[in-house]
Amino acid sequence: MTTYKIAVIPGDGIGKEVMAPALKVLDRVGELCGISFGYSHFDWSCETWLATGSMMPADGMDRLSQHDAILLGAVGYPTVPDHISLWGMLIPIRRDFDQYVNLRPVRLLPGVPCPLAGREPGDIDFWIVRENTEGEYSQIGGRFAEGSEAEGVVQTSVFTRRGTDRIIRYAFELARKLGRPHVSSATKSNGLFHSMPYWDERFSAMAAAYPDVRTDSHHIDILAARFVMHPDRFDVVVGSNLFGDILSDLGPGMTGTIAIAPSANINPEKKFPSMFEPVHGSAPDIAGQGIANPIGQIWAASMMLDHLGEPEAAAMILRAIEQVTATPGVALRTPDMGGTASTTTCGDAVVAALEQAV
Ligand code: NAD
Ligand code: IPM
Ligand code: MN
Repeated sequence: MTTYKIAVIPGDGIGKEVMAPALKVLDRVGELCGISFGYSHFDWSCETWLATGSMMPADGMDRLSQHDAILLGAVGYPTVPDHISLWGMLIPIRRDFDQYVNLRPVRLLPGVPCPLAGREPGDIDFWIVRENTEGEYSQIGGRFAEGSEAEGVVQTSVFTRRGTDRIIRYAFELARKLGRPHVSSATKSNGLFHSMPYWDERFSAMAAAYPDVRTDSHHIDILAARFVMHPDRFDVVVGSNLFGDILSDLGPGMTGTIAIAPSANINPEKKFPSMFEPVHGSAPDIAGQGIANPIGQIWAASMMLDHLGEPEAAAMILRAIEQVTATPGVALRTPDMGGTASTTTCGDAVVAALEQAV
C-alpha cells in the first residue's frame, strides 16, 4: 500500500475547523482506494508568532521538505499584522519550494445558488493559473523621506523572463491537456508602464509556439467585467500574482461562495513538496462558531491527490462534494451556501457520499 507523508498545518481561525473534515475525507478515500496517509501535524500559526516572535521554527522548511505534500488551512488573524503573518509562513513556503503555479478552478457546483442570473453548472467552469513566486508580491522597496512632507513608499514588482515564461507555458500546456485549447491573459499594459507590456510580449511569444491554442488578452478591469457578464467564454486564464489573486476570489464569488474554492500551489518539477489549501482565509468573523464551509479544504485535498498521482481518488472526492451540494434542502449545506449545516455535518455528508462515489 502506498503511504503518503502529508504535512498538515491548520493555521489560524477557521483553518483549524475545516482541516478535520478534510482529513476524515482523506482517510475514508484512502480506505476505499487502498492508499494511506502519514500525517505530521504542525500547529504553526499567529499564536506561535505571539509566543515566539516567529510563525514557524527555524528548521520549519527543512521539516516540511521531508513530506510528499503540504495541506494548509489558512494563515492570518487580527492579533498579528497580515504582512507579518503571511510573509512569515505562507509566502515563504510558496517561494522557497518554488511553487510557481497557483492553480485555482472556478466551477459552479450543482445546487449552489449562483448570484449570476440564469447560470447553470457547466456555464461557469474554467481554471485560473496564477503566478505564485514573483510579480507584484515583493519586499523590495521601502519608505523614503520618512517624517517629512515628502514622505512616501516605493513597492517594486519583479517580472523575470524565467518566471513569466514558465507560468504562461504552464497555462498553454494545461489548455492542451484539458482539450480546451484557449488561454486568456490578464494584463494592464495601458497603465503599468514596464511590467505589463513585458508580460504581453512574453505572452505573444509563447502564443506563437502554441499555434493550436486560441488566445486573447484583456486588461484586468474589463476582464473583471467579462468574468461577470460572460463566464462561459473562459477556459484557462493566466495572470500575475496580484491579478490572479483578485480574479480567484471574483471567480468563486460568481459561483455562490468563495468557501468551496481550492488552491494548489504547485512545484511542477516535483523538486519540492507542493501545498494545497482553500482560496479563502481564516475568516475571523465566523471563527469559533463551527459553521465554516469545509468544501474548499476538502477540494484542496482532492487536488493534492491528483498531484500525488491518485486521480481516481481525487475524482471520487469531487463526485462526493457534488453529490452533497446537489442534495436539496438546507440540512447538508453550510450557511454560506444557504443552509443550516455545521462544518462537521457538511464534512460528514461528504464522507458518507464517498461510498456512492466509488
Ligand atoms: P476570508 O477569506 O478569510 O473571509 C472573507 C469572507 O468569506 C468572510 O466573510 C468569511 O466569513 C467568508 N468565508 C471565508 N471562508 C469561509 C468558509 N470556509 N465558510 C464560510 N464562509 C467563509 O478573507 P479576509 O477576511 O480578507 O481575511 C481574513 C484573514 O485571512 C486575513 O488575516 C487574511 O490575510 C487571511 N487570508 C489568508 C489566506 C490564506 O491563508 N491563504 C487567504 C486569504 C486571506
Ligand atoms: C491567497 C491569499 C494570499 C495571497 C494572502 C493571504 C497573502 O489571499 O492565497 O489568495 O494573496 O496570495
Ligand atoms: Mn487571495
